Amino acid sequence: MKVLVIGGGGREHAIVHALSKSSKVTEIYAAPGNAGISKLAMCVNIKDTDVENLIAFAKSEKIDLVVVGPEASLAVGIVDALNAEGIKAFGPTKAAARIESSKNFAKDLMSKYNIPTARYEVFDNYEEAISFVKISPLPTVIKYDGLAAGKGVVIAENYEQAEEALKDMLLDDKYGKGKVVIEEYLEGPEFSFMCFVDGENVYPLQLAQDHKRAYDGDKGPNTGGMGAYSPLPFITEADYNEALNEIMIPTAKAMVNEDTPFKGVLYGGLMKTKKGVKVIEFNARFGDPETEVVLPRLTSDIYDAFMAIIEGNKPVLTWDNKCTIGIVMASKGYPGDYKKGFVIENATSGNIYHMGTKFDENGNYVTNGGRVLFVVASADTLEEANKKANALVNEIKCDNLYHRTDIGAKAYKKF
Ligand code: AMP
Ligand code: GLY
Repeated sequence: MKVLVIGGGGREHAIVHALSKSSKVTEIYAAPGNAGISKLAMCVNIKDTDVENLIAFAKSEKIDLVVVGPEASLAVGIVDALNAEGIKAFGPTKAAARIESSKNFAKDLMSKYNIPTARYEVFDNYEEAISFVKISPLPTVIKYDGLAAGKGVVIAENYEQAEEALKDMLLDDKYGKGKVVIEEYLEGPEFSFMCFVDGENVYPLQLAQDHKRAYDGDKGPNTGGMGAYSPLPFITEADYNEALNEIMIPTAKAMVNEDTPFKGVLYGGLMKTKKGVKVIEFNARFGDPETEVVLPRLTSDIYDAFMAIIEGNKPVLTWDNKCTIGIVMASKGYPGDYKKGFVIENATSGNIYHMGTKFDENGNYVTNGGRVLFVVASADTLEEANKKANALVNEIKCDNLYHRTDIGAKAYKKF
């Protein structure tokens, strides 16, 4: 079988790696892929939102299955377009992907179906939003209603910060013309619950936790994620059942009821608050970097699982019982400005997923993004896995990378 994976980050590298272990898969293509992915797949230089050329490529190569990684591809309707051509694709339709691409859609859905989440109001008028913020308790959470590459959420500690965020989003249209959701601030540990979903059927993957802040001890600015681990010792069986039965399954049913049935990976970004598990956000795809610690634990065939979801069958999902930790190596300066093009040595040992690399003219790996590498290690305990992952990170030589050393530590250390 020939499979095309759309995207070019660590998540897609992990998907390609999992597919490469399937006995059914003979050829893997990635569009656009990256230097690391090119060791396992043929990379084709087509942008992940270039629907026309992706379709033309899938047709000319007679691709059997397309797996969609990024939200941007889903939001432009790549799955609808592929299906219209009779090409099998794993991922939700454009209408179903609104659960991620519109915070307003997601919040209204949760409200209508009593799915636990922060209280909220939606505004498109700056003056009205400001008046609401003046009577809201602080901190308050301001979210742009659309895709903003993880940057559209501001947790305002004071009125001035709230005013600045609203000005950016509603007056200066920093992320485009749109609305904002202003919501109640929630507290508690966050976790990522990804499930394969086919209509009302929900098939959970293993839980993982991302680390959003740039520096050790959860200090510094928010990022796209600096590391992840799986499983999660702080989630009890009761928490798990609550998340599955009161959030993930009701959400899948709600999508069917709204005539936008979801097929693909539904990602619940959840928080364990003192008042129960609540939704922070939904994504319509595999999480990045959670996927890079969850898929290495999958012991069944991922191609079969993708096909089962597409064809309406129950997928077989089996897992190892290891603890897996992954550390992001990011360009110095990220999530702000950073330079590219630094040579990376020893980027091949162990299990490394490339997030942003390319080859230079001499065939060296060089940095080519904010997040560059994701270094993964597995062991019997999270503490061991953390040590192993840090040891692997220390073997990688590059002048312009930094990383966190404490990924997973909250799960086993007492602070
Ligand atoms: P989102 O893109 O909606 O996941 O938001 C990014 C991050 O902002 C989340 O991972 C949380 O850490 C934080 N956040 C979002 N909404 C809330 C909320 N209502 N209360 C507290 N923190 C939040
Ligand atoms: N790890 C968060 C995300 O994939 O959006």
